[in-house]
Amino acid sequence: MSRKESKKMRNIALTLVIVAIAGFTSCEQYIWDPPEYIPPDTTGGFDTIFFNTDIVPLFVENNCTGCHKQGGTPPDLTAANAYDALVPGYVNLNTPVESEIYTKIDDGHMGGMPFDDKKLILDWIFQGARNFTE
Ligand code: HEC
Repeated sequence: MSRKESKKMRNIALTLVIVAIAGFTSCEQYIWDPPEYIPPDTTGGFDTIFFNTDIVPLFVENNCTGCHKQGGTPPDLTAANAYDALVPGYVNLNTPVESEIYTKIDDGHMGGMPFDDKKLILDWIFQGARNFTE
């Protein structure tokens, strides 16, 4: 093989690798499905969700408490008042997905919350919206 030919071969090989990588990455977009909410299995004792350490921090991390604080827009989502502000008014124990605290963020209110955070809130309501503390 001449030098020119081997250079050509190398270029072809390189092109194939790039096309393959591009192919794989673009395929992933079609394989990926948005995650679906799967309710927790309440029959078999699943991990207990603690209101003070699991739920309250979500309102802080997602900046909800910037507006929803004492003297601000109700519900007051700060640590000291969040439970009494949310339960029972903003939770629907019979149909958790219709709980206002959930529908509001699921509608994307102020940027909403990441899926995992929303799921935790739903799981907490499925668990009975209890004030379990750790
Ligand atoms: C920039 C200020 C601001 C931020 C941040 C914010 N909210 Fe709100 N929120 C409001 C205002 C104003 C209203 C009333 C108007 C409306 O319903 O959109 C409201 C309404 C609500 C309601 C309905 C209250 C009712 O009684 O109708 C809920 C529930 C709620 N917010 C939850 C949240 C959660 C959870 C977060 C964090 C992901 C959040 N909010 C972030 C300003 C904010």
